[in-house]
Amino acid sequence: MMQSFSDTQGRHISYLRVSVTDRCDMRCVYCMSEDMVFLPRDDVLSFEEMERLCGVFIRSGVRRMRITGGEPLVRRDVLGFFTSLGTWLGRPAGQPGLDELTLTTNGSLLAEYADGLRRAGVRRVNVSLDSLDPARFAAVTRRGKLDKTLAGVKAARAAGLDVRINTVAMAGVNDDEFDDLIRWCGEVGTDLCLIETMPMGNVGEDRAERYLPLSRVRTDLARRWTLEPVAHRTGGPARYVRIAETGRRLGFITPMTHNFCDTCNRVRLSCTGTLYTCLGQEDQCDLRGPLRDGATDTMLTRLIADAVARKRKGHDFLIDPAVRERGPARLMSVTGG
Ligand code: GTP
Ligand code: 5AD
Ligand code: SF4
Repeated sequence: MMQSFSDTQGRHISYLRVSVTDRCDMRCVYCMSEDMVFLPRDDVLSFEEMERLCGVFIRSGVRRMRITGGEPLVRRDVLGFFTSLGTWLGRPAGQPGLDELTLTTNGSLLAEYADGLRRAGVRRVNVSLDSLDPARFAAVTRRGKLDKTLAGVKAARAAGLDVRINTVAMAGVNDDEFDDLIRWCGEVGTDLCLIETMPMGNVGEDRAERYLPLSRVRTDLARRWTLEPVAHRTGGPARYVRIAETGRRLGFITPMTHNFCDTCNRVRLSCTGTLYTCLGQEDQCDLRGPLRDGATDTMLTRLIADAVARKRKGHDFLIDPAVRERGPARLMSVTGG
């Protein structure tokens, strides 16, 4: 019988996030430090190695895959990787295969890649965009150009991709912009998802100061917008409403104020071939060593199954003005969020 990956809480792993690079052309303040040092290239898996591991996951029941980074589109030949993973889409029912192949991107290179991604089988992309104001966007991303990300979003829409904008909600940075973002997403035809800052890695910034509980934001938005219940689920942690005035969905990702770990369906493969069974925990399992030492698929499957079986109940992120913040030392850009 086919091995499938489940943990002791009865959660079945059907979703894999794959970080293809820790590199990025931006340096978002909540994600990386200004003087970020990237991994040596030899530490990073080749696309062949990643494809092999992805195949192992798919044959054990993974049905959705999200490619992340760093910024996935800065890696050379990334389209070839999407194209090979795309061959797992549309397989006959009952056989191993993917129901969805997606990516999360900062959008800077999306205008170049949108058509190719669509051809590879991608139907939906999540694009990070924290502000519509060029100066603010530049301040948050340190290197980003708002025009490029906006052009990326428009190109993705023109290529027929569904887009969800990801906005990390930050007090004193973009908390006066949510109405504008809602309106803009309505005009461009994208969903919007607000995200609570998570304390991942030391980025040399005080995230506690910027932390904004989304429960409060939601109550405030409900005073000006009609938020209707909607049953939309993507397999991810966002909980959605529909905004009657724009017809678009608004999602909330609330690891701090509303834990969603009991329905977690996912694990992460880092660009160095380390399997992380929870975003907010250090638990990990090296797959690169065994892979490069000639492990068979059966051996790799067993390693993954054992690691998944040990998956923790959930994260214990904490952001509190008294204790500042608590989370794993690992950076978001290595595990891909
Ligand atoms: P969908 O497939 O559209 O639902 O995507 P997603 O929300 O799972 O992925 P995306 O890459 O857009 O991530 C948005 C935010 O959710 C990022 O800040 C991620 O770090 C965070 N996130 C994704 N999965 C998890 C998770 O399992 N736990 C926690 N705490 N955060 C997560
Ligand atoms: N907390 C919450 N979200 C984060 N992201 C990156 N770092 C953090 C953090 N510390 C978001 C990005 C992107 C997604 C992959 O993760 O904005 O949308
Ligand atoms: Fe790059 Fe995304 Fe991190 Fe910003 S959040 S620095 S775009 S990986």
